Amino acid sequence: MERRFGALSVQETAMTDDLVALRRETEMALAEADDLRALEAVRVRMLGKGGRLTSLLKQLGTLPAEERRKQGAALNSLKEEISALIEARKQVLEAAELNARLAQERFDITLPPRPQPQGFIHPITRTIEEMVAIFGAMGFEVAEGPDIETDWHNFSALNIPEHHPARTEHDTFYLPGKRDGRPLVLRTHTSTVQIITMLSRNPPFRIIAPGRAYRADHDATHSPMFHQCEGLVIDRNITLAHLKGCLVDFLRAFFSLPELAVRFRASYFPFTEPSMEVDIGWDRASGKLGQGSDWLEILGSGMVHPRVLANCGLDPREWQGFAFGMGVERLTMLKHGITDLRNFFESDIRWLRHYGANPLSPAILHEGI
Ligand code: PHE
Repeated sequence: MERRFGALSVQETAMTDDLVALRRETEMALAEADDLRALEAVRVRMLGKGGRLTSLLKQLGTLPAEERRKQGAALNSLKEEISALIEARKQVLEAAELNARLAQERFDITLPPRPQPQGFIHPITRTIEEMVAIFGAMGFEVAEGPDIETDWHNFSALNIPEHHPARTEHDTFYLPGKRDGRPLVLRTHTSTVQIITMLSRNPPFRIIAPGRAYRADHDATHSPMFHQCEGLVIDRNITLAHLKGCLVDFLRAFFSLPELAVRFRASYFPFTEPSMEVDIGWDRASGKLGQGSDWLEILGSGMVHPRVLANCGLDPREWQGFAFGMGVERLTMLKHGITDLRNFFESDIRWLRHYGANPLSPAILHEGI
């Protein structure tokens, strides 16, 4: 639209009309934008990098100084106006979107708070938790030692001499390399933690040491890796009566059988004297634990041998104590009626679901274990 008023005023008039039209166009586009995406499109069309208003602002540089000032002021105030219009529309649309979402998303707060727990505690872990809870109530702490030990910790310190048959009876896994000049083994029992504990702390103490042990043996009742729980009490006046009371209490609590029959049978271990195997009563015909006329061997125990105390720098005339060791798999199998030891390590999810424990109910004494 050309008007013959001289270059300057023609341009001024034209731009002003353009700006009015541009504002009207923006207003209409905004009224039509009925969601945030459409609104953003309008903003880009007007104020974006290549937007209509932005292009006009870019052209300012080509105008004469006087004109540039006027036009610049007009463009900037239009820009502010359009920005404010966009912002106002944005708030309306955002509120509408939120209301729509609130109307759609409904939460039923009366639903139960949790679905079935997804995971299960492995029965071995669970048994160890129960042992820790029961012995913990009797004042025992949990002690640890490494799976790889020197043959001194595993045998010699425990009064099993160099050529004693026990070294081969244990089907030991020997490892390459040495520590402190001694051959290395995968510990064949957790009794190594007796040694570690007596060497590293001062009596009196009561510890249990649950953990892995290894023997080269594999069938329905033996696995090359299995778990034991060691126990050790060292004090000044410990007697066999303490050992018996402690183990009878533990077994009755663990199996939740207050009347469980427990028998102490003389036996032999190089590191205890006297030594006793502990049996619990059961009925072979029904497999039921408790009374019955049959006995099941369940753990080894005894009074700590004076030579073991001396090997660990304790004076046997001042200190004495008792020790015991039990198989975690064996106790778990008896408690839950599991018949094949290999199931424990096959990671069959159906088996784990069946025998696993609920992680939301921890093993604590007042839950009955
Ligand atoms: N370490 C023995 C074993 O593995 C068990 C035991 C531990 C016996 C402590 C007596 C004292 O068979």
